[in-house]
Amino acid sequence: MKHIDISELNAHCEDYIDKDVVICGWVKSVRNSKQTCFIDFNDGTGMKNVQIVVDKSEGTDESWTKFSIGTALMIKGKAVASFNEKQRFEIKPEQITVLGACPEDYPLQKKATSLEFLRTVPHLRARTNTFNAMFRLRSKLAYAIHEFFQTNNFTYVHTPLITGSDCEGAGEVFRVTTQPANAVYPTEDEYFAEDFFKRRAGLTVSGQLEGETMAMALSKIYTFGPTFRAELSYTARHAAEFWQIEPEVAFADLDDIIELATNMIKYITNYVLVNCPEEIAFFEQFYEKGLTAKLRNIVDSEFAVIDYSEAIDLLVKSGREFSYPVEWGLDLQTEHERYLTDEVFRRPVFVINYPKDIKAFYMKQNPDGKTVAATDLLVPGVGEIIGASQREDDYDKLYAVMTERGMTMDDYKYYLDLRKFGTAPHAGYGLGFERMLMYITGIGNIRDTIAYPRTAGYLA
Ligand code: 4AD
Ligand code: MG
Repeated sequence: MKHIDISELNAHCEDYIDKDVVICGWVKSVRNSKQTCFIDFNDGTGMKNVQIVVDKSEGTDESWTKFSIGTALMIKGKAVASFNEKQRFEIKPEQITVLGACPEDYPLQKKATSLEFLRTVPHLRARTNTFNAMFRLRSKLAYAIHEFFQTNNFTYVHTPLITGSDCEGAGEVFRVTTQPANAVYPTEDEYFAEDFFKRRAGLTVSGQLEGETMAMALSKIYTFGPTFRAELSYTARHAAEFWQIEPEVAFADLDDIIELATNMIKYITNYVLVNCPEEIAFFEQFYEKGLTAKLRNIVDSEFAVIDYSEAIDLLVKSGREFSYPVEWGLDLQTEHERYLTDEVFRRPVFVINYPKDIKAFYMKQNPDGKTVAATDLLVPGVGEIIGASQREDDYDKLYAVMTERGMTMDDYKYYLDLRKFGTAPHAGYGLGFERMLMYITGIGNIRDTIAYPRTAGYLA
């Protein structure tokens, strides 16, 4: 069907005034006055609707004034200059073809429909303004990420989704098996001997380990793909399937990776400010007051950096009663992170040099013997959006830590090989894509940043 995108029509309406146009889309709302029927109409290519103005006095087809919300139409008509201040033009229809009627039981009737309700209809919710805006913004943000890395000499690599290793060592791997549900074997070895891969396999929690192998050949790489975690966290910021961006850089240390992460966050934030002003304005109006100023601040101001040990001091001295204990050696809980971001710094903050025992096996040990060269980027309202570290590039030290943690060396031989053949200092990070979207839009629940959210006990 030859027709024009509504976003194109809105962007360059001067070119179309007094010309015939064909548009396709869905009815958003209908308002009738005595003489006129106004139809708000959109095809999802942009935030702004077009207004179709049906003049009732000209003996027009009466059905043109009675379309229900959600009806799919093809409209041929003329774009004419509008007298209404809100829009520069409107469409005077000459021919309307109903492509798909939308009966009364269409669930998206009311204008304000709660996000909770919309989660029960994931196949339809993209048609609401909120999700329409979210998915366009998600797409633009993904594009910005590629643009940032591609213009900085990074190679985009595709790491496997099915792996034999648990990168984070947290035991949150979804198993991949073709064994029948009732398969019973005397030992694990016998079970896996009959299984598809002849060994234990799972969905990747992170592309990092394979990413490192590529960085040791291409110097600067990034991944951008889905990762999976069987985490029983019923919070608004945990999903079982989420997308991660994982750059890995050879000949780099923790400071270099903090600089890279800062530049990337600023670049992609600026990108959406410039390229998605209507979506940002929408989220500001309905979800977070002051959103635009917040985003500008991310672009313009410096991020804070604080040592984990200093952060513990700050928390202890705060005089606050936290539900979880604050003590050197313990991980920071959400409430602690929130205190640092929302009350102390009020901007993004890198917490660096965590105790080694609460972090992953691959992190570079600091000379103090107690901490690792790792950092989390915490942001107001969301908490951790990036986990980063310099990697242990010393074969013996890495081998010792892996032995201490009881890891199966056979599964990680390739990883140790990197430290054997031309090892080099290197560092990387993982940005949680959906958490970044929460931060950029002010949407409070990760389930509303991804089309089909998967969380513990929920697969709609
Ligand atoms: O801190 P994480 O676990 O770090 C890694 O996976 C490293 N291998 C990254 C690297 O160095 N290449 O996860 C990285 C980020 C977190 O900061 C968070 O933003 C996001 O991934 N994330 C989640 N997002 C949604 N749901 C979950 N269950 C998440 N778990 C982590
Ligand atoms: Mg982390």
